[in-house]
Amino acid sequence: MSMRAKIIGTGSCLPTKIVTNDNLSTLMDTSDEWIQSRTGIRERHLVSSESETTLSMAVHAGTSALEDCSILPEELDLIIVATVSSDFITPSMACMVQKELGAINATAFDINAACSGFLFALNTADAYFQSGLYQTALIIGVETLSKIVDWTERSTCVLFGDGAGAAVVRADQNGMIANLQGSNGAGGHVLMCKGRSNNNPYITTDLSPDYLYMDGQEVFKFAVKKEAECIHELLEQANLTPDDVTWYLLHQANQRIIASIARKLKLPLDKFPSNVDHCGNTSAASIPILLDEVHRAGDLKEGDLLLLSGFGAGLTWGAALLRW
Ligand code: UT7
Repeated sequence: MSMRAKIIGTGSCLPTKIVTNDNLSTLMDTSDEWIQSRTGIRERHLVSSESETTLSMAVHAGTSALEDCSILPEELDLIIVATVSSDFITPSMACMVQKELGAINATAFDINAACSGFLFALNTADAYFQSGLYQTALIIGVETLSKIVDWTERSTCVLFGDGAGAAVVRADQNGMIANLQGSNGAGGHVLMCKGRSNNNPYITTDLSPDYLYMDGQEVFKFAVKKEAECIHELLEQANLTPDDVTWYLLHQANQRIIASIARKLKLPLDKFPSNVDHCGNTSAASIPILLDEVHRAGDLKEGDLLLLSGFGAGLTWGAALLRW
């Protein structure tokens, strides 16, 4: 029987500063009523000091995941960080996390798959486990999107929050049941953020910074369609019905997207835990933060079936069905 990824510990980190919708309405022309009714978001955590960084949150979440399952940093042979808001172009966040943790035996690298990043990291660890190359991985989804959103653009900046979530995954015969992922680069223009300015002396470039751009309605349509397809495909692969899944842990972008998926599957919303109300959209961090909250609330029992699903910029999507 082949070895697959089993989640054995979780951790998360949210910045201390909480910014409510009313706080935002003092900065721009928006309202608590608009944000809550369109998205379900009430408040989000945002970094508010130089010491709160993508790296610091990743290390905090990773340490807490290791403590949760009593794994020592030296036991890790793989660290993957999923992020689009790294503090550095190089080294990778994963190498910097490795250094901070003292995980001297791990191979470490980052993945850029936006809000699908945590699923891509989980599926990558799973593929390595199946190949026999690695046995124990720390995977982290972390974002400081407050650095790259346009704070003069109310249709995007109110949606996002900062944070990190982590999981320790181990090669096991009793974890992952089915997974999938995919990309459509041709659709990528609906959600993008250009890189830093060019420093090449032979090229004259516009030095103005560029911020996150999103066509919200196009992303909304893509999300509902693709996420429903992914869930159906996974259930079919595993020969299960929607009702067999204990918890659906979906990317936390918008409560209306989550509710649409529940309706499409004809399932009660209480199978879909959510934290978008107090975290906003934390991109690659949203699914592992939610997983950690559900775990720490004592709501996961051994043998529970979890379906994790995310979608995001790229465009990208990923999903995994696994046993807790
Ligand atoms: O993880 C990344 C994935 N991203 C997503 O999943 C986002 C998916 N999309 C969405 O969640 C929704 O499309 C949004 C929440 C972004 C927007 O909701 P919407 O119902 O599609 O609103 P809209 O863009 O059609 O805007 C409706 C109105 C506009 O005014 P007019 O033109 O009708 O007069 C906007 O100018 O709402 C206005 N508006 C706002 N008003 C108050 C846009 N943003 C705001 C705001 N406060 N923050």
